[in-house]
Amino acid sequence: MPRNTLVNTGLNLLGLDYKPLTVTIAAMEADTHFGFEQVSPNEKEGRVMAVFSSVADKYDVMNDLMSGGMHRLWKFRMRQCSAVRQNHVVLDVAAGSGDIALGHLRKMGDTGRVILSDLNGPMLHEGARRMLDAGYLPGRADCIQADGSCLPFADAIMDCVSIAFGIRNFVAIEAGLAEFYRVLKPGGQFICLEFSRPVLPFLGVIYDTYSFHMIPQIGEWVTGDRDSYQYLVESIRRFPDQKRFSHLITQAGFDLVRHENMTGGIVALHRGYKL
Ligand SMILES: C[S@@+](CC[C@H](N)C(=O)[O-])C[C@H]1O[C@@H](n2cnc3c(N)ncnc32)[C@H](O)[C@@H]1O
Repeated sequence: MPRNTLVNTGLNLLGLDYKPLTVTIAAMEADTHFGFEQVSPNEKEGRVMAVFSSVADKYDVMNDLMSGGMHRLWKFRMRQCSAVRQNHVVLDVAAGSGDIALGHLRKMGDTGRVILSDLNGPMLHEGARRMLDAGYLPGRADCIQADGSCLPFADAIMDCVSIAFGIRNFVAIEAGLAEFYRVLKPGGQFICLEFSRPVLPFLGVIYDTYSFHMIPQIGEWVTGDRDSYQYLVESIRRFPDQKRFSHLITQAGFDLVRHENMTGGIVALHRGYKL
């Protein structure tokens, strides 16, 4: 699949700047992991894309089933904490079916623009369909198929960069954070919702039992694809915990980095600013 393909036009105003692929390739030399398996970076990217292509049309219903609707509360809190305002230009990376982008647009009111960006075509199509249904596309939303660790945007043009449940799938997390920093304006906010580590006693055991036994089973019943949901569970365990992720965000250049735990640390909301 070609990277950084323009799916929908309308971004000329934002100063689109296609960067050479070498950025991503350089960041992909060392071995990485796909869930609990050690794989090459190319293999990881191919398999992650296969997961999301497979689940795209059932993604929203599975989110509700797996989280018991909790993902809506987590995303609501993200919207409350985002610095998104009227007239802002906001990039939602790994936008998928568009929940976060819709939240941004509602928070902005009548002005401002959201770019939904995702590496996976079928997931991005779900997002584009929802933007069309809500009347935001064309005009207020754009959909760009791009790798979050090699963004096709000029420096310092975004007021806010958000990502929800996406960054743990990246082959190169640090390269992604560096890109988010690069495209933000000075004063811009980075906000990230991601699965993290339970901090309440006993919650970890209950959560492990639920995720390793129930989630792949629900995935099989609803989508007929157990392996994709096994990967999702394993990828959560491989992702850095709250403190390590804060450290990575700080290393990428962000200031005032902090996080808050939700549902006992099952999910964490991280924020940082480009000052
Ligand atoms: C779990 S979904 C989250 C979708 C949406 N943000 C939400 O919260 O409902 C993860 C998304 O990350 C996307 N993704 C994975 N790796 C990516 C990458 N390197 N760059 C951009 N998007 C990526 C997938 O295609 C998928 O749509």
